[in-house]
Amino acid sequence: MRAEVIDLSEYPLFTLSMARELLPRVWEILRKGNPIKFYGSLERLELLRFVSGMEFDSLEKSDAYHEPVMLREVLRTFEPLEGKILIDATCGLGGHTKALSEKVGPRGLILALEKDPESLQKAKENVSSANVVFYRGSFTEMKDIAEKLGIGPVDGVLFDLGLSSFLLEGSGRGFSYRKDEPLDMRFDPSSGRPALYYINRLDVEELESVIRLLGEERFARRIARAIREERDAAPLERTVDLNRAIERAVRRQHLLKAKMRVYQAFRILVNDELGTLKEGLLKALQVLKPGGILAVISYHSLEDRIVKTLSKLPGVEALYKKPVVPSDDEIIRNRRARSAKLRAIKKVGDIDEALFDDIVGAVVPSPLPRPAK
Ligand SMILES: C[S@@+](CC[C@H](N)C(=O)[O-])C[C@H]1O[C@@H](n2cnc3c(N)ncnc32)[C@H](O)[C@@H]1O
Repeated sequence: MRAEVIDLSEYPLFTLSMARELLPRVWEILRKGNPIKFYGSLERLELLRFVSGMEFDSLEKSDAYHEPVMLREVLRTFEPLEGKILIDATCGLGGHTKALSEKVGPRGLILALEKDPESLQKAKENVSSANVVFYRGSFTEMKDIAEKLGIGPVDGVLFDLGLSSFLLEGSGRGFSYRKDEPLDMRFDPSSGRPALYYINRLDVEELESVIRLLGEERFARRIARAIREERDAAPLERTVDLNRAIERAVRRQHLLKAKMRVYQAFRILVNDELGTLKEGLLKALQVLKPGGILAVISYHSLEDRIVKTLSKLPGVEALYKKPVVPSDDEIIRNRRARSAKLRAIKKVGDIDEALFDDIVGAVVPSPLPRPAK
């Protein structure tokens, strides 16, 4: 019987009253006769034990837990899978790679790309299938990598954008406002500049435009000014420093959303995520064979806007009229899935690079500030 998951680490604060609010969900699962797995800290489980008077003993650290988002829908998008050659452009911990490799079988192949060396190592430990080729690199290089390895043109490419549970909870790189960590936020910590570089050097107008454009945050100006005031006292080096600036600028009732948006903004800036996505999508269309399928799971409107424009390109047909979203069940099980949207297109003709630049490039915010050294 499949255990239902309650991830206690998803709550920014976990008080006695929040533990009480969780009880009806716990009773409901137990009433159905299902086992429960808890993820998060021991202290939080202790609170739940205290308010319920029950013994729960299943607890795993949340960074060990990673469920691939919209797996069923992804598999359905590429079906029939037997014998296919696919690229998983964002292998992460290997969740989708593993399932796809089982479905394509021994006559098929998955090229799994990942920028972050630590995630790639974990994926290799999680996936032992012989028909997976792992490669450390950016999906912007997928065409060259595939050619170098003698793979392609391919039947399908999958992008699962955003953060894995490992990057968020276990990488120690400051992706989450809930952890006290250095402000790094790079997918590949060996290249580019960490977030603290931008946070401490951009002028206040630039900070504001990053937070407004890439975080879609309405209190951008106040937050930008608060960052300047904080860093005038001492450079912002850790997530707690950035949190302090946001707390200074935004009222309590808006705080959680503001933090999420500010972190999203700097993460996108640090990794040039939107420019990279545009380039990666073009490479994917180029490496696909006619009739091949490109599927993308995005997690916020800036990404989705870029993906959505693909269906306007000549030589491309949308597979779904509207984006596919996760089931309620999945959202309850896996909160990471709550904002996911899956879009997919079929390549039916040649892709004109100049037209791609015009049509897709039009929805990529630019230019983004880069501080002088
Ligand atoms: C949401 S996770 C993928 C999770 C994966 N589908 C799974 O089920 O385990 C996104 C991953 O994309 C990686 N990534 C981000 N930008 C990349 C790029 N330009 N090239 C390759 N990988 C990238 C991140 O490091 C992260 O591990």
